[in-house]
Amino acid sequence: MTVPAAIAKELDSLKDQIRHHNYRYHVLDDPEIPDAEYDRLMRQLQALEQQYPQLVTADSPTQRVGDAPISAFGTVQHQVPMLSLDNAFSSEELFEFHRRVTERLELEEGASSLRYTAEPKLDGAAVSLLYEGGKLVRGATRGDGSTGEDITHNIRTIEAIPLSLIGKGYPAVLEVRGEVFMPKAGFEAYNAKARADGQKTFVNPRNAAAGSLRQLDPRLTAERPLDIYVYSVGRVEGGILPDHHSEILDRLQDWGLKACPERKVVEGAEGCLAFYEDIGARRDALKYEIDGVVYKVDDLRQQRELGFVSRAPRWAIAHKFPAQEELTVVEGIEFQVGRTGAITPVARLEPVFVGGVTVSNATLHNIDELHRKDVRVGDTITIRRAGDVIPEVVGVIASRRPKGTRPVQLPKDCPVCGSAVVREDGEAVARCSGGLFCAAQRAEALKHFVSRKALDVEGFGAKLIEQLVANNRVKTAADLFTLTASELAELDRMGEKSAENVVQSIEASKGTTLARFLYALGIREVGEATALSLATHFGKLENIILASEEDLLSVADVGPVVALRIRSFFDEPHNSDVISRLIEAGVSWPETEPQSVAKVGPLVGKVFVLTGTLSGMTRDEAKQLIQSHGGKVTGSVSKKTDYVVFGDKAGSKLKKAQSLGVGTLNEEEFEALLAGC
Ligand code: IVH
Repeated sequence: MTVPAAIAKELDSLKDQIRHHNYRYHVLDDPEIPDAEYDRLMRQLQALEQQYPQLVTADSPTQRVGDAPISAFGTVQHQVPMLSLDNAFSSEELFEFHRRVTERLELEEGASSLRYTAEPKLDGAAVSLLYEGGKLVRGATRGDGSTGEDITHNIRTIEAIPLSLIGKGYPAVLEVRGEVFMPKAGFEAYNAKARADGQKTFVNPRNAAAGSLRQLDPRLTAERPLDIYVYSVGRVEGGILPDHHSEILDRLQDWGLKACPERKVVEGAEGCLAFYEDIGARRDALKYEIDGVVYKVDDLRQQRELGFVSRAPRWAIAHKFPAQEELTVVEGIEFQVGRTGAITPVARLEPVFVGGVTVSNATLHNIDELHRKDVRVGDTITIRRAGDVIPEVVGVIASRRPKGTRPVQLPKDCPVCGSAVVREDGEAVARCSGGLFCAAQRAEALKHFVSRKALDVEGFGAKLIEQLVANNRVKTAADLFTLTASELAELDRMGEKSAENVVQSIEASKGTTLARFLYALGIREVGEATALSLATHFGKLENIILASEEDLLSVADVGPVVALRIRSFFDEPHNSDVISRLIEAGVSWPETEPQSVAKVGPLVGKVFVLTGTLSGMTRDEAKQLIQSHGGKVTGSVSKKTDYVVFGDKAGSKLKKAQSLGVGTLNEEEFEALLAGC
C-alpha cells in the first residue's frame, strides 16, 4: 500500500511533538501539556502506525518507554527491562482486557473467578532498588526502560526506603521496583514555602517527586518529603519468591519495604471495577495522588503464559480515572462584580470535558493571579478540575500563543456601574467603589438575601432578581416584600402561577431566625457560623446593634476585623433604614435570652461537622448547642475536624472522616458528650 504524502507528514509531525513532550517530561521534569493530551498524541500515532505498519521505525516513540537519561548521572542497565503499562480509559476497555486475558489463558468465557491484584496507580516516579545480601547497593530511575540513571545517593536519603532489609529469607540479589512519590500534604507545604521564598513551584506531586530524585545534590533531595510504595520485583537471584504477585508484595513488606496498603486481590472484571469505584470515591481523601488503578493477574504462572508485547505486559493494565487536566482555549476574559464589590477575572473557555464535567468558565481569582499566569484571550491553557473543587487554570501553553495577544489589564471603572475600581494597599482584591449603587452588587446582595441558608425564599431565582434590579423595581431587600403577584407575572419567564408561588414564598420567609437574618444582611466577614454565634450570644438584634467592638470581641469566632465590619455595618444609616423597613414589613424571629458561650468544657475549641439526619434535634439546634458550649461547626471534613456527628443517611462526609481517622459520634454518643458539658 502506498502511503499518501499527507499521512507521512502527519506521522512525522506527531513523532516530533511526542519527542518534544518526552524530553520536557522525562529530562526537564517540566511537562508542557496535560497527560490526556499526550495520551491522545500517542494514540493517534499508534493508530496511524497500525494502519501503515511499513512506517514504523525503530526510533518511533511508540517503540520506547520513556526518554534517554541525561548525562549528569551515571547510567544503569536494567537487566530485566522496566516496562510500561497499557491503559484502559473506560470500563469497556477493562472488560476487553479481561476478555483478551481469559481467551489467551483458554479459560471459560467471562472467567469471573480469575484473580487480579488491584492496586492504586501512584502518580510519582518509577525507581529500581537493588539489594545485595540485604543491603541497598543501588537506586535507579526507569529511564527508557532498559537504561536508567544511577540515583543511589538520592535514593538513600528517602527514609521510607530501608538501607538494609529486615527479617529472613530474602534472595541474595533482589531488585525491587516501586513508585517514589510526594504525599499531597508535603507537596502543598513545599510549594507554599517555595512561593514564599520566591522560588519555582512544582506543577503537581508527580513532577515534584521526579524532579527531587534527579537533584545533583542529595542534600536537596533529603529536604523533600518523599515516600515510596513498591509494586514489583525485577532481578531475583539466590532465593525464591512466592508464586503470586499479592504474596510477593506481602513478603516484600515483611522485609521492611513499603507496599501500598490499599492493594486487594479481586475476582474477574467485576471485582476490578468494584475496586476502581471504591478507590475513586476515596481518592480525594488519600494522602497521595493517584491517577487510576492497576490490575495485575495474580498468578505468576499465568503471567508467564501471557507474556509481553513491545512495551507492556499482557497480564496488567492501568485503568485511568477521567483526566483532571485538559487543554482548552480562552475565548474571553471578563470581570465579574461580587456582592461586596470584589472584582473577579473570569476566563470564558471553549467548553471542555475535564474531571467528569464540561467546563466553560474558570475563575482567575484576582488580578495578581491573572498577571502571574499571564492568561490572554486566544491562549491555549491547561485547565484542572480535581474532585469537587472549582476548575482552575494551571497555566498557559506558551508555545501555542497566537500572535498579537495583549496582557489583560484591570479595568479602571466597574464594568457594571462605571464607578471607580479601587484596590486597598496590600489587598489582592480590587473592588468596585459603587456599593449598593452598583446593580451587580445589589443583585448579588439580594441573591444572598434570598438564598437557602439566609431567608430561604424558594423559587426566587437569579434571573428574576437581575430583572428586578435592572428595571430599578428592587433597590434593597426591603423592596422584595412589596412585590405583588401581578407585577411579577409581567416579567420574563414568569407565569401567573409561578408569580403567586414566589409571593407566597416571600411571605413564608418572613418567619425566620435571628441567625439567618444576620447572615442574610450580608455583612462582610459574617458567614453562617459567625451569624449563629452572634445570635446565640446576644439573643436580640438590638443588643447586637448596640454592641461596642469590645462587646463583639467576646463572641466566639469574632476577631478585630470582623468586629469592625459589624460595627461599621450597623453605623451606616442606610443599613439601619433597610433593617427597620424589613421589620415593618413583618420579618420576625423568636427572641432568646443572651447566652454566654462556655469557656471551659469538653467542646471548647473543638471542630465539628454534622452529617445525616439526627432524630432528636434539627441540625441548626445541634449547631447551636455545639457553639454555645464553645465548639465550632464547619461544613467539610478535614484533618482539622475533631468530630463528625452522624445521623441517619450519612454519606460521604462520614466515609471521609473514617478514611482520615477523624473521630465519629453517633447521636447517642453526641448526646453523652453534651451531657458531660
Ligand atoms: S506495575 C510491568 N504498579 O505506572 C508493570 N506500575 O505506566 C510495571 N505505576 O512505570 C509497572 N503505580 O511508574 C505498576 N501499582 C503500580 C503502579 C505503577 C504507578 C507507574 C510506574 C510505571 C507506570 C506504567
